Amino acid sequence: MRIVLIVAQSLDGFITCHEVPGVAWASAADQKWFRATLSEFDAQVMARATFETVRDQILPAKPTDPTRIIMTRTPDRYTEDSASGQLEFTADLPGAIHHKLVDAGHKNCALLGGSVAHDAFLTAGLVNEIWVTIEPRIFGQGTPVVRMKQDQRLELMDHQRLPESDSIVARYRVLP
Ligand SMILES: NC(=O)c1ccc[n+]([C@@H]2O[C@H](COP(=O)([O-])OP(=O)(O)OC[C@H]3O[C@@H](n4cnc5c(N)ncnc54)[C@H](OP(=O)(O)O)[C@@H]3O)[C@@H](O)[C@H]2O)c1
Repeated sequence: MRIVLIVAQSLDGFITCHEVPGVAWASAADQKWFRATLSEFDAQVMARATFETVRDQILPAKPTDPTRIIMTRTPDRYTEDSASGQLEFTADLPGAIHHKLVDAGHKNCALLGGSVAHDAFLTAGLVNEIWVTIEPRIFGQGTPVVRMKQDQRLELMDHQRLPESDSIVARYRVLP
């Protein structure tokens, strides 16, 4: 199963604008590209704080939705929101999440943040590709793409300027 980390960041590497949760700051071009891109994926993984910012959009879970896995240390708090095979809350580590998705037959998983999820999967060596939208913004403060010390080498696959914008999508392969 391929795992692709998909993220929009400011030029200086932040995924939020200062302390404001969510991605309302991202360009319309990126939001359009992101929605279209997600249709390629049959599974999504995100951590709990990111889930909170999109819960109104994804609840209640529908049978046509991709499988969504939410990383939390306290999954029991979310039993009412859970829908087996569609929206699951887990304290599993990335390796176990990966195994379960593979066993369920998933082929393409989007890793949707935030920094806790990025760090956990990168540290576990489970990210195959990184697709980053570089937005023409500088924030100086905010949530960083990663918080932990990393030294990951990447290979550029391709890049594009999103239509009618100054936003760039660069797609990288994660090198072993
Ligand atoms: N620009 C973008 O593309 C983009 C992408 C994604 C997110 N974001 C933004 O980034 C922000 C969220 O990022 P974030 O880094 O603050 O949070 P996060 O990574 O989304 O979630 C952090 C939470 O993950 C849970 N967690 C699961 N396993 C954990 C572990 N082993 N250790 C610690 N925590 C664990 C904890 O919640 P529990 O307390 O429930 O355990 C923790 O509070 C949001 O504002 C979101 O909108 C932006």
